[in-house]
Amino acid sequence: MERMICAAEAAEVLGGRFGARPGIETVSVPGRVNLIGEHIDYHELAVLPMAVPRAIHIAYRPAAGGVLRAVSGDGYDEIELRVDADLAPGPAGDWGNYVKAAVLATRSRWAIERGIEAAVVSDLPPAAGLSSSSALLTGFTLALLRANGIEAGFEELMSVLPEGEHFVGTRGGGMDHAAVLACRAGAALLVEFAPVVATPVSVPGGWEFLVAHSLVMAEKSGAVREQYNSRRAAGTAGLRKLGFQTFREALAGGGGDELTARARSGLRGEELLCFLHVTSEAARVREAVAALKAADMAAFGRLLDASHASLRDQLRISTPEVDALVEAARKAGAVGARLTGAGFGGCAVILCRRGERAEVKERLRRGHYARLSGFDPVSHLIDAEPSAGALLA
Ligand code: GLA
Repeated sequence: MERMICAAEAAEVLGGRFGARPGIETVSVPGRVNLIGEHIDYHELAVLPMAVPRAIHIAYRPAAGGVLRAVSGDGYDEIELRVDADLAPGPAGDWGNYVKAAVLATRSRWAIERGIEAAVVSDLPPAAGLSSSSALLTGFTLALLRANGIEAGFEELMSVLPEGEHFVGTRGGGMDHAAVLACRAGAALLVEFAPVVATPVSVPGGWEFLVAHSLVMAEKSGAVREQYNSRRAAGTAGLRKLGFQTFREALAGGGGDELTARARSGLRGEELLCFLHVTSEAARVREAVAALKAADMAAFGRLLDASHASLRDQLRISTPEVDALVEAARKAGAVGARLTGAGFGGCAVILCRRGERAEVKERLRRGHYARLSGFDPVSHLIDAEPSAGALLA
């Protein structure tokens, strides 16, 4: 229902700005929350995200002469460019970069001639670790393709989108694009890489996920970028020092104590910590999928907690604010909680027992958030019902 209303709002903004001519189409792309498997997708290890019931909505209409013009309902600057132009990134954080990235991603595989007039509205909080940036890139890519009469499938889109996002500067993996495209309602998505395979795993009835914001913005294209990229580089450097080409190769023998011992004797400092995060998180994803399939909520909760400890102590991408939120969630009755997304602020994902989510929220509101300024219950506490991705909505 919410999605319908928002897509219609995007169409209104489009008509208001560019004229109420017919031919308006819409595309809606949800955000995602990563349940587990953090900072390992770029090492081609499996992850387990889920789409959330918040989305960016783009209304668009083909435009003559290869011109792309876009406005946002949130009052960001209007964008105008040619879809066949040489495109260079603008300042970090500029939303136009994602639109340019979409043009380049599209052109890397398809010949497009038509531009679009487009308007974007969103109820997905930005810079929260919920993939608003990948949703924007994915939405503009789908709009451009469809305006040019091209209906691309999941694998084709996955062959251009993660690479396309590197234009914006974060050397991320493909988790976000896979999730926002291919999640099914009622399910998390096990995403494996090289080749990319997305398998829905049903979320048992009565598991209630909550996404809570730390109130620290995590703008991936801004200061977080260097930090994010450095974790990837350290993990890869450690891997190579141990004589492996890929983490999959390193884990082929089952990982476990032997690999950990080898890492401890061969690596130091940042490289050791990042390497150990990656290998332990890969194991947690496997166990989490088994726990989900067995509807073992306690085991899943323990894995969330263990993942958070590793992100905090080994990968060092948490912040005191996120740690405090995770702690508060557990005290408020959560079965498990952890930082989700790129880190350095953003959100926590919190697992609650059937019927207890409202209570956990209320306790967080009256306790944790009462001490903080700038809290808004609508954007900062989201009931994360497993939702459908853009290709299935
Ligand atoms: C960001 C990236 C993803 C992934 C996460 C961390 O969201 O876009 O590819 O690396 O961080 O798990």
